[in-house]
Amino acid sequence: MSPFICPLCQSAFSQTNNTQICENNHHFDIAKEGYLNLLPVNAKNSKNPGDNKEMMMARRTFLNSGGYLPLAERLTTLVQQLLADKDQATLLDLGCGEGYYTDFLASHLPESTIINALDISKVAVRYAAKRYKAINFCVASAYDVPLENDSLDALIRIYAPSLDSELQRLIKQDGYLITVTPAPRHLFELREKIYEQVNAHLSENEAPAGFTKVEQINLNYPLNISDAQILKDLIQMTPFAWKFNDEKMQALLAEEKWKIECDFNIEIYQKL
Ligand SMILES: C[S@@+](CC[C@H](N)C(=O)[O-])C[C@H]1O[C@@H](n2cnc3c(N)ncnc32)[C@H](O)[C@@H]1O
Ligand SMILES: [Zn+2]
Repeated sequence: MSPFICPLCQSAFSQTNNTQICENNHHFDIAKEGYLNLLPVNAKNSKNPGDNKEMMMARRTFLNSGGYLPLAERLTTLVQQLLADKDQATLLDLGCGEGYYTDFLASHLPESTIINALDISKVAVRYAAKRYKAINFCVASAYDVPLENDSLDALIRIYAPSLDSELQRLIKQDGYLITVTPAPRHLFELREKIYEQVNAHLSENEAPAGFTKVEQINLNYPLNISDAQILKDLIQMTPFAWKFNDEKMQALLAEEKWKIECDFNIEIYQKL
C-alpha cells in the first residue's frame, strides 16, 4: 500500500495496475522508476521547480567522492539511536534531492523501517527512484506534504525548505525532527574568495513552533580536495556558484590542492 495520500482530497490510495486511485477517483500514474508525481500542476511556480539536472548531477558527483560522508555517518548514527526502541519506524526525508542521504540511512536502518522521501525536483526524484528500490519516493512540495497527520516517527530535513505547520502536522507526538544546516564556518575558504566580508552562518537555530530542542550538534572537519572537478562540483552545488566568474575560478584552480572547512549544525527537536 502506498504511504502517500491524494494531494487533492487527502484520502487514501488503492493501486490498480500502474495507477494509484483515491476514494474520490483522482488518478496518479506510478512512473516506470516507481515514484509518484503528486505535485498538482497549479502548485508549480515554474515548469520544472526545484534543482535542475546540472545542479543535481554536480551534487551527486561531489557526494560520491565522499566529501560529506562524515555527515551521512553522523546523521545515521543519531537516527539509529533515536529510533532504537521502535519496532517499525516511519521516516520522511524532506527535500531528499537525488537520495544520497536517504539511501545511506535506508542501508543502515532495520529493514522494517518505512522510508519515505520527497522532493519538488522531478529529475532528482527520478534519479533516486531508479536506484533505490526500498524507498518510497514522490514528487511533491515540502509545503504541502501528501502524508497523513501524525504519521512520522522522524522527519529529516537536510538543506531544504519547510513549513512549521507541516512539520507539526506530520510528526507523531514525541517524534523527532532532525535538521542539517550550514554552521558558521561552512565552506569558509570558498566564501572568502568571493565576499569582501564573509557573513557567518548561524551557529544554532530556534525550535520550530510545537517542538523542543533535544540536541545541538556541531560537526566540523577539514575537506581535502586534490581533484579540480570535485572542487567545481562542490562550488556548483552552493548557492554562491554564480558568483565565481572565470577569473575567480582560474585563480582558485591554480592552487591545485584545497583544504576547505565543512561545518554543519545538526539539530534534533522533539514534538511536544
Ligand atoms: C540543497 S538541496 C539538498 C538535497 C538533499 N537533502 C541533500 O542534501 O543532498 C535542496 C533540495 O530541496 C529541494 N526543494 C526546494 N524547494 C522545495 C520544496 N518547496 N519542496 C520540496 N523540495 C524542495 C530541491 O529540489 C533540492 O533537491
Ligand atoms: Zn483524491
